[in-house]
Amino acid sequence: MADLESQLLQALNEKECIADSGDFAKSQGVDHMAVVGVIRSLQASEMIVAEDIDHFRYALTEESQTYLTAGSPEAQVFAAVGADGISLAELKVKVPGEAGDVGFKQAMQQKWLALDKSAGEPRVVRKVDSIVDSTQALLADIAAGKEVPKADAENLAKKRKLIKPEQWKTYKLSKGPKFALERKKPATDLTFDMLAKGTWRTQEFKDYNFNALGVLPAGGHLHPLLKVRTQFRKIFTQMGFEEMPTNQYVESSFWNFDALFQPQQHPARDAHDTFFLTKPAATPSDRGVPADYLQRVQSVHEVGGYGSAGYGYSWKLAEAEKNLLRTHTTAVSSRMLYRLANQPGGFKPAKYFSIDRVFRNEAVDRTHLAEFHQVEGLVCDRGLTLGDLIGVLQQFFSRLGLKKLRFKPAFNPYTEPSMEIFSYSEQLGKWMEVGNSGMFRPEMLRPMGLPEDVNVIAWGLSLERPTMILYGIDNIRDLFGHKVSLSMVRRNPICRLGL
Ligand code: PHE
Repeated sequence: MADLESQLLQALNEKECIADSGDFAKSQGVDHMAVVGVIRSLQASEMIVAEDIDHFRYALTEESQTYLTAGSPEAQVFAAVGADGISLAELKVKVPGEAGDVGFKQAMQQKWLALDKSAGEPRVVRKVDSIVDSTQALLADIAAGKEVPKADAENLAKKRKLIKPEQWKTYKLSKGPKFALERKKPATDLTFDMLAKGTWRTQEFKDYNFNALGVLPAGGHLHPLLKVRTQFRKIFTQMGFEEMPTNQYVESSFWNFDALFQPQQHPARDAHDTFFLTKPAATPSDRGVPADYLQRVQSVHEVGGYGSAGYGYSWKLAEAEKNLLRTHTTAVSSRMLYRLANQPGGFKPAKYFSIDRVFRNEAVDRTHLAEFHQVEGLVCDRGLTLGDLIGVLQQFFSRLGLKKLRFKPAFNPYTEPSMEIFSYSEQLGKWMEVGNSGMFRPEMLRPMGLPEDVNVIAWGLSLERPTMILYGIDNIRDLFGHKVSLSMVRRNPICRLGL
């Protein structure tokens, strides 16, 4: 291409003008389309000027090509008839098909042949001794690119459909305002050098292409979990909830279990379910947990109180001091509720939420990971009932777009009553579990010092489940962990819940 370009510029430089780009293509032994490509590009840089030359010609059809050697249909029929004549049936055999029919008709019209019906069966006979095949001659002239009379050409094209019109363009080329033997590459940037030497005055610059698409930024894509988290945050803040500080992944068993009235023999407190820390293995209980509160928690576990019979076992401080990776965000809620009960100025109602990471020593499969995220909400106020919980859940989930809810009695060590939350998925045509909820037990709240008429309604769900549903991901390992494809993170769309 570049070669062809310099050939063309050279030719133009020598002769000032290329009369016809078609001839130029022939002289170079290349297809005219290749020359047209070069012309377009040089034209765009104003190096040459191109004027259209319109061409028109007739070309032979496939059928008429064969008549160049075999003769026109009428000549073929005339030859087949011979000096003695021939029956119509024989003629059909000798010149079969359309050529036979058309040829017979033409030869009759030309009065080369006649039909002799005197002897019973009609015979085709010659009326002249010899003929001149002018149709063949015309076709030969057209094939050779010679001029033929207009009437003849139109007859062949329209009536007999033996030739077809063809139109095309070539170009007359001359030098343009920016003609040069070599293309100068316009600069795309103003450089220090151009400024220092003053060459910017004469330097040609490439035009801006304002229609070009911008370069996609390579960084700064939010993971779907972050997008969905933002939406949850919005819903909670719209409902007047305040976010709890969730930065502490490591908790003592006390806040994760004991404060929640979860007995020390509970299977969840087994190393098979919970990741315990070896270094540091324990948090001394005098750090952040006042002795009197510790005492009340021990007592409620051992002998009960506040209307409860307790568990009747010997509570061990060492067990409560064990460090672990928090197994649920309810560990954060228990800290916050204790703070709420003991804040200066006394208890004030609160609505809290959290969205952060939790850890469980679980076998990893397509729906489970050893670390995931929980979304948790709680309302702490005087005189709250199960009806309030159901009402808040309806509000919360309908903002997510889950309007049809059902509740099923369930068990949590720290809530009574407890309810699993199910939502009907129109998409899947079934009820799906979307969360867990309940009213925190007095065994949890009273030792903290919350007034007797204060209740706490709370609920929790995973962040992963709704994210997977929203983004159509069916294996949790495609969402989170070392197998995640970065292009998934780059391509996933924005998230808007509840639409
Ligand atoms: N902590 C519970 C869980 O891990 C969820 C929950 C939160 C249940 C609050 C009741 C109340 O599944």
